[in-house]
Amino acid sequence: MDKADIIIRNISQLLTMDEDFTIIENSYIAGAEGKILSYGPMENITNIHLNENATIINASKSSVIPAFVDPHTHLLFDGNRANELVMKIKGYSYTKIAEMGGGILKTVKATRHATEYRLNAILSKRLKEFAYNGVGTVEIKSGYGLNKEDEFKMLNAINNPTYSLVKIVPTFLGAHAIPPEKSYSEYVSMVKSLIPEIAKNKMAKFIDVFCEKGYFNEEDSKSILEEGRKYGLIPKIHADEFSDSHGGIIAADVNAISADHLLKTPKEALSEMSKKHVVPVILPGTIFSSFIESTPDIQSMRELNMPIAIGSDFNPNCMISNHEFLLWLAVYKMKMTMEEALKGVTINAAMAIGMDQEVGSLKEGKSMDLIILNTKTYTDIFYEIGKPHIKKVILKGKEIK
Ligand code: NIG
Ligand code: FE
Repeated sequence: MDKADIIIRNISQLLTMDEDFTIIENSYIAGAEGKILSYGPMENITNIHLNENATIINASKSSVIPAFVDPHTHLLFDGNRANELVMKIKGYSYTKIAEMGGGILKTVKATRHATEYRLNAILSKRLKEFAYNGVGTVEIKSGYGLNKEDEFKMLNAINNPTYSLVKIVPTFLGAHAIPPEKSYSEYVSMVKSLIPEIAKNKMAKFIDVFCEKGYFNEEDSKSILEEGRKYGLIPKIHADEFSDSHGGIIAADVNAISADHLLKTPKEALSEMSKKHVVPVILPGTIFSSFIESTPDIQSMRELNMPIAIGSDFNPNCMISNHEFLLWLAVYKMKMTMEEALKGVTINAAMAIGMDQEVGSLKEGKSMDLIILNTKTYTDIFYEIGKPHIKKVILKGKEIK
C-alpha cells in the first residue's frame, strides 16, 4: 500500500456521503498525493504507513465531510452592482432593474473593459475565498462578454486560473443576454457560430442558456443547446426562474445534465426531467438575494427520487460565497432535511457537473477534498445558525491557509 502523506485521526463523525449516508464514528481518513488512500474506524489505523513528513491532524470533537461542490456559478466578472440592493429593497424586480440600466448588461460593460490579466486576478481572489469556505470544485460560466472576443477572454481566464487548489469546470453561457449592438436573431446565430471553436479547443465542458422571457425563447434555447450537443458540449439550462418557460421540458428533450433554478417548473416537467436523469439544481441564495418568496417544488423532486443539487449562483446579484449559508437556507427556508441539504452541496452537486467519480463523497481514489468542522455532530452546523463551523479545509490533500 502507498504511504500516506496526510492523516486525520480521532474524527468524531466521518460523513462519507455515500448512498446510505454512512457515518463512521471515532474514525480516520488518510490521503496520498492528493487522493484518498483509505478511511475507517480508528482501530484500523495501524494498517496505515506514514511518509516521513506526513501531516497529522487530530480531529477529536470534529466531524468531517467532503468539501463542497458548487455546480452553478457566474464567479468571473468585473464591476459591481451594489447599488441594485437599494432598488431591490424598494421592490423593483430583476427585469425592472435591468431595464433601468442594471442587471447582466451592466456587468457586461465592466467585463468587456477588463483585460484577461485582470480577470485572472479577480478569479484567483474569489477562488481563494471559495477554498477557504470549503469549496473544492466549482462550475464557472462565461456570459458577461456576449461577443467572440470577450466570451473567449472569459473562457481563457476560467481555463487558466493562477490558483490551482480548487477544481474548475467551465461552461459556455454565450446565451446569457442579448448585447445592445445586435438584434436578437443576429445574436442567436453568433452564439451558435462560436460553438465549434469552443468545443474543438476544449474551452468548455458544458453549454448553458438563460431560457426566460426577455432573454432566450424556448425554440432558440433548444436549438442552441442541440447545436452545443452536436459538437460535444453537454447541455445545462437556466430554467423556469421567473415564469414557466418550459425549461424543464427542454432539459429533458435535449438530455441536459442539469436544469437550474426551477422556481416555476410544474410537476409534470420535473417528472420528464427525472425520466431522463436531469439533475435539478436549486439556488437558494438567488431566491434570498432577489427577495423572492416562492421556492422550488422540493416535495415533488423528493417523490420523484431526484438527486437535488444546491448551487450558490454566485453572481453580481447574489454575492454569496458562504456555502454554510446555503445549507441554512435549504433547511430553514425550503424545509429540506439536513441530509438532503448536505447531499445537495456535495455528491448531488458533483452529479450535476459530471464530477461524481472524482469528488463529492469520501471514497478511496477520489480527490482528498474535505472539511473539518468544529462540531462533534454534523447536525450542530444546522442548529447553530449564522455561526461559522469550518475549522480546516483540505483540498487535493493540502491544508488551506
Ligand atoms: O443565474 N439568471 C441569469 N443569470 C444569473 C444572474 C446573472 C446576473 O444578474 O448578472 C442567475 O441568476
Ligand atoms: Fe445563473
